[in-house]
Amino acid sequence: MNLLAQEEINLEVFRRYAGLSLPRHVSYPMPTGWNPMIGDDFVKMLQTSQQRFPQRHWSLYLHIPFCEALCKFCACNRIILPKKYGDTWQEPTRQYVDILLADLHRLAGVVNSGRQLRQIHWGGGSPTFLPLEQIEQISNTIRQQFNLADDAEISMEIDPRHTSPELLQLLRRLGFNRLSMGIQDFDAQAQEHVKRVQPFEMVRAVVQHARSNGFDSINFDLIYGMPYQTVETIRNTVELAIQLHPDRVAYYHYAQIPHKIATQRGMDYTRLPTSEEKLQMFIVGHRLFTRAGYDFIGLDHFARQSEGLAHAAEEGTLQRNFQGMTTGGGLDLIGVGVSAISHFLEVGFTQNEKEVEKYQQMAGEKRWTVDRGKWFTPDDLIRQAVIHDIYCSAEIVPQRVEQRFGINFDDYFARERSALEVVAQDGLLLAEPDGRWLITYPLGRVLMRNVAAIFDAYLDPEAYRQGDRDYFSANA
Ligand SMILES: C[S@@+](CC[C@H](N)C(=O)[O-])C[C@H]1O[C@@H](n2cnc3c(N)ncnc32)[C@H](O)[C@@H]1O
Ligand code: SF4
Repeated sequence: MNLLAQEEINLEVFRRYAGLSLPRHVSYPMPTGWNPMIGDDFVKMLQTSQQRFPQRHWSLYLHIPFCEALCKFCACNRIILPKKYGDTWQEPTRQYVDILLADLHRLAGVVNSGRQLRQIHWGGGSPTFLPLEQIEQISNTIRQQFNLADDAEISMEIDPRHTSPELLQLLRRLGFNRLSMGIQDFDAQAQEHVKRVQPFEMVRAVVQHARSNGFDSINFDLIYGMPYQTVETIRNTVELAIQLHPDRVAYYHYAQIPHKIATQRGMDYTRLPTSEEKLQMFIVGHRLFTRAGYDFIGLDHFARQSEGLAHAAEEGTLQRNFQGMTTGGGLDLIGVGVSAISHFLEVGFTQNEKEVEKYQQMAGEKRWTVDRGKWFTPDDLIRQAVIHDIYCSAEIVPQRVEQRFGINFDDYFARERSALEVVAQDGLLLAEPDGRWLITYPLGRVLMRNVAAIFDAYLDPEAYRQGDRDYFSANA
């Protein structure tokens, strides 16, 4: 079946824009535009946020960097413990957890107790790699130290290969209500190549245990565009995923950054799908998920219509951050653990030290572990709002930007406006009579990063059609 013809994609245009090195904008400005910072900056930023927005609540991100074995594609900040520490690999998790607990206590000393903790997300690495008693200890500390909302969303990224029924029972007892499962692909050959072998039956058993334990929401992470994946294997993977009824799906395009991630260099790039095959993979995924009753959200997420993410998309309260699409609109995000990022809305970003030994040393000396960050300028905030609308609602609404920031859109964005005309002529955007610009489907949706790049002041002005040399994350 020729999907491209059916969807009327202009392949000449697609080829011109696809495959450029452009960011996915999980933050704006992207971390490459941030500055060195120290712990005092973190405290100052937190206090600024608390003074300016005393009613604002918050969400907590915990980074657990450990994994048992490496998946070759992985671009996350993780440490393969058995490889690094041999027989003594259990000791570092104890040391890390002690440091994390100290960091949480220190944080409790500066977060206003009136602020409610409304979301907690454990990510990694693989939090499921921690011994059960350490998970319980961290969870208890959070409950004791912070003002946790009764209806808080509490989620963990789980690796199905390390998720026992006992762990799921414990998580429910500790109040977890959401799970995010790393699936990636169900194809045996692709799994073998990337060293991430987890048969469908294993995943099905974990999903069944999770459902019988009463988890409200289960997310699947899938990746398309890796070596040995074809349009047909991806179709099969998506169909199998749908059989398990996940509530949300993150359908990631493989971020190929071998310049930064040494282990990705070991992949067989002779078996990499072409840009056009990846476009077909996107279209197959989109068609199968939407036919199965999922809403397409943002760049790469699908959610059941009954799910919080779909409601947030309708209400305009979606948040796009380092964990993908979330419902935490209006909450400050505070990250604890190595490399974790904090986002104080309308104020700035900070990121913790990325090297685990250095992070532990800083925290062990009772110092804040922040290493870099960015205070937002007025221009950052205007551009952040436009880029947010592009990814979260697939539109640019000049009137809304003018009302919120008191600017004249066409004057402020004179250069960007010309670029919008160019991409509109190429079919990525549609100009509406009321002044809005809508991102087209499928061409504009698969090339969303090119549209967002127009508004990124830290990129080369021509990056939207030429790519930017500082970014390696290939598009589409
Ligand atoms: C921290 S991992 C998830 C939890 C757990 N470690 C696991 O793998 O099951 C976060 C997710 O990032 C995604 N990811 C990692 N490397 C990626 C890459 N190079 N391109 C696209 N997605 C990637 C994967 O889908 C992965 O599930
Ligand atoms: S994908 Fe998950 S399990 Fe695999 S190395 Fe990355 S963080 Fe670890």
